[in-house]
Order: sequence, then C-alpha cells, then structure tokens
Amino acid sequence: MTERIEKLIEEMSLEEKARQLTQVNAKIVYTATTAAITGTGGAMGLSEEDKAGIGSVLNFSGADEEKAVQDDHLSKDPHKIPLIFMQDVIHGCHTIFPVPLALGCSFDEALAEECAEMSAVESRLNGVQLTFSPMVDLVRDARWGRVMESTGEDPYLNGLMGKAFVRGYHKGGMLCCVKHFAAYGAAEAGREYNTTDVSERNLKEYFLPAYRACVEEGADLVMSSFNLLNGIPLNGHKDLLVDTLRKEWGFDGVLISDYAAVKEMIAHGYLETMEECAETAIGNELDMEMMSSAYVRHLPELVKEGKVSEERVNESLRRVLEMKEKAGLFECPYGDTDAEKAKDVNLSPAHRALARKAAVRSAVLLKNGGVLPLSADRPFALAGPFAEEKNILGSWACHGRPEDAVSVKEGLEAALGRKLVSAKGCEGDILAADESGIPAALEAVKGFKTIVACIGEPSASSGEGASRADIRIPAPQAALVKALKEAGHTVAAVVFGGRPQVLSEIEPYCDAILYAWQPGTEGGNAIADLLLGKEEPTARLTMSFPRKTGQCPIYYNCFNTGRPRIPDTLENSNYISSYRDTLNAPLYPFGYGLGYTDWELKGVRLSSEKIVEGGRVTVSALLKNTGKRAGSALVQLYIRDRFASVVRPLKELKGFQRVSLAAGEEREVCFDLSEEMLRFYTASGEFASEAGKFDVFVGLDSSTSLSAELTLVK
Ligand code: NOJ
Repeated sequence: MTERIEKLIEEMSLEEKARQLTQVNAKIVYTATTAAITGTGGAMGLSEEDKAGIGSVLNFSGADEEKAVQDDHLSKDPHKIPLIFMQDVIHGCHTIFPVPLALGCSFDEALAEECAEMSAVESRLNGVQLTFSPMVDLVRDARWGRVMESTGEDPYLNGLMGKAFVRGYHKGGMLCCVKHFAAYGAAEAGREYNTTDVSERNLKEYFLPAYRACVEEGADLVMSSFNLLNGIPLNGHKDLLVDTLRKEWGFDGVLISDYAAVKEMIAHGYLETMEECAETAIGNELDMEMMSSAYVRHLPELVKEGKVSEERVNESLRRVLEMKEKAGLFECPYGDTDAEKAKDVNLSPAHRALARKAAVRSAVLLKNGGVLPLSADRPFALAGPFAEEKNILGSWACHGRPEDAVSVKEGLEAALGRKLVSAKGCEGDILAADESGIPAALEAVKGFKTIVACIGEPSASSGEGASRADIRIPAPQAALVKALKEAGHTVAAVVFGGRPQVLSEIEPYCDAILYAWQPGTEGGNAIADLLLGKEEPTARLTMSFPRKTGQCPIYYNCFNTGRPRIPDTLENSNYISSYRDTLNAPLYPFGYGLGYTDWELKGVRLSSEKIVEGGRVTVSALLKNTGKRAGSALVQLYIRDRFASVVRPLKELKGFQRVSLAAGEEREVCFDLSEEMLRFYTASGEFASEAGKFDVFVGLDSSTSLSAELTLVK
C-alpha cells in the first residue's frame, strides 16, 4: 500500500469511505456536456455531498466529456480522489469487432488478444480506464440473449479465450473486469435474470474454471452476478465471494456488484432492508456497489453500531484506491484521454483491417452444396433484410455507429467493382409475420440464378434483456428463402445473429449457409472476402445449434442417460431418452464448420496404450486435404472417461490445432495428452484421475467417433 493510500484511509470519514465504494451511472449525476450536477441523484437518492465524493462512474465516455466530468468532480471532492471511468467495452469501442461468441468460433487466442488490445487503445483515448469484459459465463441455452457475450459452451475454451482478452486489454493499457461471477449463464429457460440452480460439482467443473483462469491471468476486477444461485443471490454467497474467490483463488482486486444487484437482494426475497443488503455485501467483501446506494446510506451507521468493522471497510477502500493508482489516475486524472489523437485512431485503417480479419475468422460455414465460393464473373443478386443492413454491429456495440459499418451489399460491390441488385423481401419489423414483400422481391431477382439471401435476427434481439422463447429464423425470412428456392434459384444464405438460431426450417431450401453472427464494423467486407473465396471460412462452432428451440439447453459435453437413443433415429423412441418430434443431436454440433476444401482424418494412434500418474502419451492422427484447394482444418482432441466414481461427460475438449495443408497434402497431427488432463472432481471431492479405460477422440467436430483406447494404470 502506498503512503498516499494509507494517508487517505486515515483522513477519510466513514461517509466519505462509503461514497468511494459506490459507482453510479454518470448520466444520473452529470449532464453529459456541461458536467453540471443534476438535481436529484436519480433513483439512488444521493445528496449533493454524496455525488461529490463518489468513487466511479460507468458507461460514460468521450474524451472531452470525461475531462469535464473529472474536473468538476475534483473541484468538489474534499480529498481530490479522481473518479475512475468504467465502460462495457465488450467487442470494440468505435471500431466494432465481431461479438465475443463469434470471436470464440475463431478458436484463435492471438486474434482475441489483438482485438482486445485495439479495443483498449480506442477506449483509453476516449476516456475509459476499465472495461467490464471479458464475460466468460458458460452458456448452453441459446434462448438467453447474452450468449453473444460469451465464447460458448466449453469451460476449457472459455478459459483460454478469457485469458486472451485479459492479456489484450492489459497490453492496450486498460484494466479489465471478468464477469459475471458466477454461473449467470445457467439462467433457467434462458430467461434473462432468471434463477440458477447448479450443483457444487457442476459449478466447480464447468462454470467456475473460466473465471478462475481470468483471475489467474491478472484480471483487475471481478463482477458478481445478479442471479439467485441455489437459493441465494450471488452477493449473499460468502462461500463463493470469500472462500472461493478470495481465499482459494487469492483474488485481491476489486469485487464489484452488477447493476443494482445489491439492493435487488430485497426483490429476490432474501433480505428485507437496505441496511441488511449493505451489511451482507460488505461482509462478503464486495468492494464496490454499482448503481444502488446501500453503502452510502448505511455503511457509516453499520460501523458505528459495530455490525461491520471499520477494518473491513478500509480493506475495500484500499482495493478501490489501489485500482485507481494502478490506472495512473492520481498522477493524471484524465488517464490517456486525448480527443485529437482519438480522431486518428478510432476506425483507423489498421483497426478496420483487424476488424475485417476477425470477422473473416469468425463466420462459420455450415453448409455448402458446391455453391461457394461464388465466382466473381457470374452474375448473382442479393435478397433479404440484411443485404443492405448496416446495423450488423451486435449488442454492446459501445460507440460503434451503423453508418461506419459496411453492409454485405457494400462489401460485395466494392470487391466486384460493380453494382448489385438487391431486394429486401421483408418490409417493416422483420420479427413480425409480414410476408407481403416476397412477390416483389422474387420479381426483382428473377433474372439471376444465384441469390445471396441475407437473413437473421437484428442486433437488438440479443444481448442483455433480449431472451427469445422461439429462436427460429423470423417467419417472413424463412418464407422468403423457401420462395426463392421454389422459384428455381440457387440460394446461398448469410445468416446474422447474436446466438445460435434454429435453422431447420430454412436448411432444406439453402444450397449454402454461412453463419456471420453479428460481425461488426467490417462485416460486409469480410463476408465478401468469404463469399468470393478470397478467404476460406475457418471458424468452428463453440455452441451447439439446436434443431428445435425445445432442445435448449443443448451442449456437447453432456452425460449419457441409462437409456440413450443409439442410433439417434426417430423410429427408436420408446421409453428411451428422446423426443418424439426430433432427434437428440443438434443440427450442427460444437466444433463443427466447413471450409472450401475436403478433409480426411484417420488412424488415431497412441504412443502407448497405457498412461500412469504424472505420465503423458502422444495422440496422433493422419490428416489429408483431399480437396482441390489449400485450406486449414481445426483438429480437435476429446476424451471420455468410460467409468468413474462420478459419471463423466460423453466428451470433453482437451486440445485443438489449426493445420493448414496444400491440396492433396497429408500430415500427421500430434497432441500431447497428460494424466493431469484426465482429472476431475471425484466422488470424494478430490481433483484427481481414476484408474480405468478412456476413449481418446480426434475429430473435426465434437461428433467424431474416431478414437483409440487408453488405460490409466495406478
Ligand atoms: C448490467 C450487465 O449485466 C453487466 O454485464 C454490465 O457490465 C453492467 N450492467 C454495466 O453496464
């Protein structure tokens, strides 16, 4: 602790300390342009004195605005402690990268790191010192709107990607906050803010590892989540907030609540009063309260009454002040804010180039009946509401503006150097069932054999508060695709979305499907690169795509039942674990995606059939590019522990490698598999491996059955 911090802690009154532990939305306290203090303090009931001493503001940025607010604050704060500005910079600040779920599909940690670094560079110049990212909630239910913020359904991959984001933000000079601790992604029925109920084992094995990985990588903050977990709202979970996060993982940074989550413990039916909320949260080492005023209103009296020790408050205060020191704010309260420089950096050619590369590497080719890549000199037309749509930025697009984005039509026209015909086909609200535009669209494109149908859900259909109970492609768009096919066209669909959508209804009418997600600022250029074959699609799914919404939650690393449906056919459905109206398997599994060439993978071999405690084996397989062009495959390694004291999942991802081969080339791909990678939380709660047989799978997606048998001998 520096002398400065020690001195401040000594000098500050209890009231001042409580204010410092509070974060408000700056718009409540300041008007954006003048930095004048507004009258009421919004719903939080803050006094003028409270407002003058608050510790932090969120979601307020812009170089000049930040300076004005900081100046105003410093002129009023008795201790001249600078504010720290935090913002949801989730996938870019001005230059918008693909949504994190898409970026996850790149399976490319270096790329995620680079995107995070550039996000940080833009953010700092715009007056932000800390981002509420990465979000590493494990997600299995595509109905939940926030799956777009995560990197998917695999704990190992989420940990790797989360760490890459942390490194990138730090490289770019910005602090970062991992969220939402814990298990927020397990919201029942995919409904936003809903209850979660997750066993301790499940938590430890699936939901917690990615947060831990980010903490170990040096994430500066952790955000506790809104949700009720096993009957207790997160901010009431001493076991997780103190025992796990602080003691077991050694996290000594700032723990911040999610928006108003401290006072929401009352609505949950857990605590009755704001006093109790303050006492519980501070007792669980929640250092900063976002957007509720339990601390400001009650911490001083709680300390005076002896219900909370001043030492406990001081410890939180120290963490908050240390965070500000780390951000360099005592030396320079504006951080790296620089309006002039920002003009050159925001959306600079280098940033756009990275956004384009990221969008290219995030789009997943789900089907290709030989139609892609399109040949540049063959005429084709565009259809669908996303052909000319520029809001393809996705939710949480920060300062991203649709007018700075490139639509599919613009991207293709720029690449081809000619104008293209496009017909929307769906007028008005694209989620409404209005099919009246279809005849005119068919008429407009009738002279073209091939149609690129740009369809999907709008940016606002995913993100916070944007759960959907029906995740099919909106009906008028599905009808458009069908009508195009029935009119004799070859249909290549480009699908936009912030979640896996149910594609079963359109799939039979599509000759190709490229899943573009919400690709960000350079989306249209990237899609043109892919459609025209300048680039090969290399991304692979990190969330399973259900056949029907009713399959959610659906994920590859699930368990067998006592009555599995094998083979997975509709005929074989009686008294076994199945549906009457659909298969068990997803339409497209985790790890799946196509490129522009064909692959053969065979001959899985182990360097030894046996492995011992502390030992390792090499797993190899032969990969051949059997197609006509060079390409790259994502070779994946999975294991299954056949019998154990606790039933193990059907498959667990343990590694992956991108391998690029020329047409006709063949290569042996090798993975290192250690005994450590076979460990799990056993029936006695120990993290250990158990003797017995394992299947070791190698494949091009999680449905692979290519395997070898390994025996762990103890
Ligand atoms: C609520 C969201 O859950 C969280 O992810 C976000 O960081 C905060 N609001 C601040 O905007």
